[in-house]
Amino acid sequence: MIDQLSPIDRAKYASAHCAADFVEDGMRVGLGTGSTAAWLVRRLGARVRDEGLRIIAVPTSTRTAQLARDVGINIVSLDEARWLDLTIDGADEFDAELTLIKGGGGALLQEKIVATASDQMIVITDAAKEVKTLGAFPLPVEVIPFGWQASRALVEEVLTSMDVMGRQSSLRMNGDQPFVTDEGNYILDLALGRIGNARQLSLVLNQVPGVVENGLFVDIADQVVIGFSDGSCEMRDMTTGTAESTTKQVDLNYARNIFSDL
Ligand code: 5RP
Repeated sequence: MIDQLSPIDRAKYASAHCAADFVEDGMRVGLGTGSTAAWLVRRLGARVRDEGLRIIAVPTSTRTAQLARDVGINIVSLDEARWLDLTIDGADEFDAELTLIKGGGGALLQEKIVATASDQMIVITDAAKEVKTLGAFPLPVEVIPFGWQASRALVEEVLTSMDVMGRQSSLRMNGDQPFVTDEGNYILDLALGRIGNARQLSLVLNQVPGVVENGLFVDIADQVVIGFSDGSCEMRDMTTGTAESTTKQVDLNYARNIFSDL
């Protein structure tokens, strides 16, 4: 089945597989949400089973929680874990400073809480998500359902004084109903085109009544592991001040074992 994966999915697999090696016995680990994070969860499940890896994991969505249970990972709530050693999660876009846009999968609120409650955050991604300037991917903003149209109007208004290119917002839908997050909220996707100052935008958006959180992750991620379709991955560490880079090769054949277990 690994041979049937698209190049992007092979890259996501390689990234997740490389990042899973940073998880050590006894760690408390935050598990992200999305297709790349799902590879990570499966790989960690295999390590639990095959190597006897002992971890306590905090999932960032009901989807991830279900998958983690299915592969035999011991999950607890963030309140039970209190603080985490490491969170590994995907992203929709990342730039050279490792500022991220997240929330394409609708789990940005739990993802941001879990990542900021961790000593370290590793982003797992493919190279296509690296951008010079953030904003081509619509920025998700989680709003409470009460008065969401007023919140949307206020969001669009504050955008007029921000360094962005576009200001259109749309309510995320699930068929003909609004998409509802795990916390029962809605998501506005902002088509900004270009984000000139992510830190300022994030702060301003979170001031709008009804906005719960936005998908900009500023100064949260420490490392990025970029996967490639040939099974190689590149690790960049931002904590050293300069982006140090190391590369590694993942055995794509290993994926066959994971697939055969699904
Ligand atoms: C979910 C997220 C995901 O990490 C992001 O959307 C990337 O997803 P994928 O790994 O499927 O490309 O932020 O809220």
